[in-house]
Amino acid sequence: MQTTLTDSAEVAADLLNSGGVVAFPTETVYGLGAGICHPEAIRKVFQAKGRPGDNPLIVHIYSIEQLALVADEISTDARLLIERFFPGPLTLVLKKNPHIPYSVTAGLETVGVRCPANPVAREFLSHCTCPVAAPSANLSGLPSATSWEAVYEDLNGKIDALLRGKPSTIGLESTIVDCSTSIPVLLRAGAITLEQLHSVLPEITVNPASDEQETPKSPGLKYPHYAPKASIIPCRTDETIPTGPSSAFIGLSGPPEGVALFKICRNLEEYGRELFSFFRQCDAQGINRIYCELPANSGIGRAIRDRVLRASGSH
Ligand code: TXA
Ligand code: MG
Repeated sequence: MQTTLTDSAEVAADLLNSGGVVAFPTETVYGLGAGICHPEAIRKVFQAKGRPGDNPLIVHIYSIEQLALVADEISTDARLLIERFFPGPLTLVLKKNPHIPYSVTAGLETVGVRCPANPVAREFLSHCTCPVAAPSANLSGLPSATSWEAVYEDLNGKIDALLRGKPSTIGLESTIVDCSTSIPVLLRAGAITLEQLHSVLPEITVNPASDEQETPKSPGLKYPHYAPKASIIPCRTDETIPTGPSSAFIGLSGPPEGVALFKICRNLEEYGRELFSFFRQCDAQGINRIYCELPANSGIGRAIRDRVLRASGSH
């Protein structure tokens, strides 16, 4: 298949509206979208990524009004989070509306809903005639794509179109909160931090799996994730890192002497933004081992830590 590259949100939306599969930028990572009213396009999303059919997709909406097309029973807790954090890097799991096909939710009675803030994403979604189901626009198991070039690398020839935008400003996938249960649960850490969530709803708990134990609640959490070809080795700042010509380092301090490639980030925001593109850069340069400084489990550090540990295969 020929993949159309376009800078026009309207052209991209037209292709999606006619049943195409279209990658588009968001502030977290690029998404691979299909209209929820196009079952064949939804099938193609799973196929293009090589994604297991039991891993549900997040549905993207343009406006809060569209929420009623996607979810039923929006609890008071969910409303408070929506008021505070939509549009933005937050996905809520809610009871699904009967219009949402089970192919999107992987058979679940709940649906993940997100309203992105990125202006290009918003323009694209405003031209889409129905809400857009979209996982991250990468091959299943590889790091998420944070630039259109990364999407192109993974999916050129497998999707109908790629809407080119700027690199994602956050670089880590959205925070996911399950609001379908009586007490909301953080399923995936992201740029909306647990501390920010607690300032609205102090009772939110942390899914044990996302805190490094037990069985995952979110179906996708059981699959290997974010992993480049190189081995990921989490490290602490006070550790001596064995270096070599095929080793790399990313973190806030250093660099350790003798690594072939490194990225020193000024703060955690930059670390989050650069992590996945650094993984891809290392693969392109034939690096075998990527040492990643593990930040403390607070603020956006919680999300970086989660991605590094998952990429290393330690949970
Ligand atoms: O930032 C993001 O969330 C990006 C952009 C494109 O929006 N999307 C994204 O999608 O990261 P994906 O498919 O790579 O990750 C979605 C995660 C998966 O782990 C999936 O299992 C979980 O969300 N998920 C989706 N629907 C769910 C549901 N109803 N209940 C529990 N988990 C769900
Ligand atoms: Mg993904």
